[in-house]
Amino acid sequence: MKKTILLGVNIDHSATLRQARYREYPRTCGQMVEPDPLALALAAEQAGADGITVHLREDRRHIQERDVQRLRESIRTRLNLETAATPEMVDFALKLKPDSVCIVPERREEVSTEGGLDAAARIDELRGIAADFAAAGIVVSLFLDPEQKQIDAAEKIGAPFIEFHTGAYANAYYDRDARSRELRRLCRATEAAANVGIASNAGHGISYVNVAEIVEVPHLHELNIGHSILCRALMTGIEEAVREMKARIRNGLTVPPRP
Ligand code: PXP
Repeated sequence: MKKTILLGVNIDHSATLRQARYREYPRTCGQMVEPDPLALALAAEQAGADGITVHLREDRRHIQERDVQRLRESIRTRLNLETAATPEMVDFALKLKPDSVCIVPERREEVSTEGGLDAAARIDELRGIAADFAAAGIVVSLFLDPEQKQIDAAEKIGAPFIEFHTGAYANAYYDRDARSRELRRLCRATEAAANVGIASNAGHGISYVNVAEIVEVPHLHELNIGHSILCRALMTGIEEAVREMKARIRNGLTVPPRP
C-alpha cells in the first residue's frame, strides 16, 4: 500500500491579510482583529491538517511573535516554525520549542522564499545550529533546492529532514519539457536523500493542480502548502460570507451577532 503523505498547512497569509488592515497588531486592543491565524489553524486541524507551519520573518510582514506563542499553546498537531539561521531567530525558536524548525534563507526584498538555502556554503555554521536544535528536542529540516551538493551538505550538517523547494517545478508547470525536467530533478533528489537516511518534505507553489504529480515523487513524508489552500478557502467561503452579510443588512438587529 502507498504510504500516506502528510499535509502541513502554512497559514502565513492569514496574517498577511490581517496586517493589511491592523498594522498595529498586537497593540490593537479591544477590537475584533481578523482574521485570527490561530482560529484558522484550529479549523485546519479539524479538517485533517497534520501540522501547522508559520514563518516568523525578520521584517514581521505577516506572522508576529505573539501568533507563534499562541499557536504553540493551543494547536493539537505539530508546530513547524520556518526560521532564518540568524542568532535572534535561533534564540527565539530554542525558547519557543516548536516541534520542528525548517531553516530557510531570508532576503527582505523577496515576496516569498524564492530559493533554497545554500547549505553547502554554510556547513559549519549550520551544523552548530542543527546540533543546538537537536539537543533541545526540536526536529530540524533544511529548505533546499533539489541539488546533489545541497543534499551532501545536509548529510554533513546532520539534518534528519530536507524540505525540497518545489518552486522551480511549480513555475515550469505549463512548459512540458521544463516541467518533466524539474520533476525528474525532484525525484533524483528524494532518492539521493533516502539513500543517506534523510527524510524528504516538499513545499512552495504546490497547488490543487500540480499536487497530483508531486505525490508521485518517491519517499515524500510531508507537503507544506500555504498560498493555494488559503486561496481555495477564500473561494469556497465567499458565497456563505456574502449571503450572511446580506441577511444581516436585511434583518439588522434580529440576527444575533456571531462571536
Ligand atoms: N515551505 C517553505 C519552506 C516556504 O518558505 C513556503 C512559502 O512560505 C512554503 C512551504 C509554502 O509555499 P506556498 O505558500 O507556495 O504553498
